[in-house]
Amino acid sequence: MSAQLIDGKKVAARVRDEVAEAVAQMKEKHNYTPGLATVLVGEDPASATYVRSKQRMCERLGIHSVGHTLSADATQEEVETLVAKLNADPNINGILVQLPLPKHLDEEAVLNTIDLEKDVDGFHPVNIGRLAMKGRDPLFIPCTPAGCMELLADAGVEINGAEAVIVGRSNIVGLPMAMLLQKANATVTICHSRTKDLTEHLKRADIVVAAIGWAEMIKGDMLKPGVAVIDVGINRVDDDTRERGYKLVGDVEFDSAAEVAGAITPVPGGVGPMTIAMLMKNTLRAAEIALAK
Ligand code: GUN
Repeated sequence: MSAQLIDGKKVAARVRDEVAEAVAQMKEKHNYTPGLATVLVGEDPASATYVRSKQRMCERLGIHSVGHTLSADATQEEVETLVAKLNADPNINGILVQLPLPKHLDEEAVLNTIDLEKDVDGFHPVNIGRLAMKGRDPLFIPCTPAGCMELLADAGVEINGAEAVIVGRSNIVGLPMAMLLQKANATVTICHSRTKDLTEHLKRADIVVAAIGWAEMIKGDMLKPGVAVIDVGINRVDDDTRERGYKLVGDVEFDSAAEVAGAITPVPGGVGPMTIAMLMKNTLRAAEIALAK
């Protein structure tokens, strides 16, 4: 391996330490504790696990957290009523509605109900719209893309003028990531499942962000030497040598990519720990906004 390893565990720990310190200061100086409410609709095990980790991290950093779980058949009105209640709750600074919501619910309408100043996920249509526009800034940036930007900064990757290729166009990662890199003056290409010649695009890229959810789809021979690779994928693949029967891999084939890249994130231990760290940072920011009022 010749690439520099971008250590998400280390960067996330630094972000969390900064948040914990700022939370302690806020308590001391203002007698104020940031609060995060999570909303989980249904019992999808992966979503439940994510929400639990977010709550546990709040506890670790001194942030007040309240978890709400609604049944999988909750109505649109029930979800929106809960969000409205949390909007009005002065002890809650951030509201996180875990996605995806069950199919019968209108996701955009729910996200639109969240108070802009409590939108710690940055998924409110107004925050996303501001992210997309020149000269405007959202109050909150979506956590996973914000974490990817921190990792690029930590690795000293030059974004200004760089060719960036994002593989994947999800609302949660690919799309906001493209907008962030564009704001930072990269020339951005978004590739996806219908892209005709992915390798042709990748071969030009100084920065690759892989967020397509396809295990080890991007190989070293598809990359330009020296590229910075941010792998957002977390995929389970069978592995009989492990007791649990599977291992986690990214969307990039790590070993071959690390021979070609200048810098690369591992999976696990790359982007993964950053998402929750950035959520904690956004929750602190929401508390600072509330406190300033
Ligand atoms: N589902 C997958 N990632 C996320 C995230 O960052 N926030 C929310 N709310 N739901 C998600």
